[in-house]
Amino acid sequence: MSSSLTPERRAATSTTSRKGSRHLLTLLMTLSLILSSLANPLPLPIEGHSNLLKPPVKQQIANPSAVPQDPKTQGKAQFKQFAASPPQPQPDHQPTTTTPTTSTTPSLPSSTNPLLPEHKYFHEPGYTEVLSHYDSRFFSGEPIPYAPHIIHLRHLIRSYLLMTSELNLKTWLAHGTLLGWYWNGGVMPWDYDLDVQVSNKTLGEMGGNWNGTVWEYVFRVTPEDEGKEEEKRGKKDEAGELRTKKYMLDVNPYWSQRTRLDGLNIIDARWIDMENGMYVDITGLSEDRLETAKQTGSGRGKGIGVWTDKNYHGYATRQIWPLRRTEFEGVEAWVPFDVDGILTEEYGGKSLTVEEFAGHYFDHGRKKWVKTELA
Ligand SMILES: *[C@@H]1O[C@H](CO)[C@@H](O)[C@H](O)[C@H]1NC(C)=O
Ligand SMILES: *[C@@H]1O[C@H](CO)[C@@H](O)[C@H](O)[C@H]1NC(C)=O
Repeated sequence: MSSSLTPERRAATSTTSRKGSRHLLTLLMTLSLILSSLANPLPLPIEGHSNLLKPPVKQQIANPSAVPQDPKTQGKAQFKQFAASPPQPQPDHQPTTTTPTTSTTPSLPSSTNPLLPEHKYFHEPGYTEVLSHYDSRFFSGEPIPYAPHIIHLRHLIRSYLLMTSELNLKTWLAHGTLLGWYWNGGVMPWDYDLDVQVSNKTLGEMGGNWNGTVWEYVFRVTPEDEGKEEEKRGKKDEAGELRTKKYMLDVNPYWSQRTRLDGLNIIDARWIDMENGMYVDITGLSEDRLETAKQTGSGRGKGIGVWTDKNYHGYATRQIWPLRRTEFEGVEAWVPFDVDGILTEEYGGKSLTVEEFAGHYFDHGRKKWVKTELA
């Protein structure tokens, strides 16, 4: 395991905006957030970023295939339910047989499953390498250029990690995002999306309690945000103005359908930048029955205790748990237990040693990937 990754910046303490408790719902939400932050001290806005995440607001998601619902009634019902019985954190590594009480999408026998035949839930503006990295509903029509895209991705993953910490939803870095962590605790500049995983049980909590919630994320603009990270990376800039971004958690109703089917819904949930449609792909792992595990990609041959997503990735329980606590882009994050093993299986051993990739080279002095033509 690479150990040169502990980011230099220290985590402080999170403050949730607690303004505006005139509204009963806001008050209930706030109380539960206070309770959860007492139970679970938060990591935090990194110096120089002063990131804040405000309590979520439930919004109707523009989705052509969604059944129309009154957003107010829907939001109230769910928040009341949540306030009455906040989700209880449970050990994540234990396979679960209980269904979340607040889940809106109970698993049904396939004969009566209204989710079948399968329709694709998340839509992207195109299938090309460039266009497949945006959610159609929030895509402006213009892809984000190279220089600013990494800035958006950093705030995207920071806000996601803050949100999951606040709600005590256990999540860990996966795929290319995990590889980025391995090298320098950050997003790799040639990536245009981010990947995280959660257990099937956490997916149920996301879907049952937090689907469609919109979060306001406030940050202080730093030189890094202005594209001048070279000289001043990580330095506090108290003069920076405050800026707000909005993100939404959207859970695929097919999440509880744990087999691949036609492969149209292998992504279980997304954390979406509502300004431009960039997203974090959230995939769930469920403990597979032995027969399925045998045929499932890299889970093949591992036997019982195999955790699979819906796209042929499989992990032994001990590869994932216990999770390791770390930082990513300056905020608290978690990675699987066996990072080296997972990355080697997925990308080959060279991914951990080769220092030139996709038109970038790894600069050891600056501990970052640098675009070759800009060097
Ligand atoms: C995934 O979670 C759901 C809801 O908790 C449960 O009904 C289902 O059995 C789980 N599936 C697997 C394969 O663990
Ligand atoms: C999440 O909300 C959207 C929009 O209301 C809905 O289409 C989708 O089915 C919901 N997902 C779950 C898991 O309930």
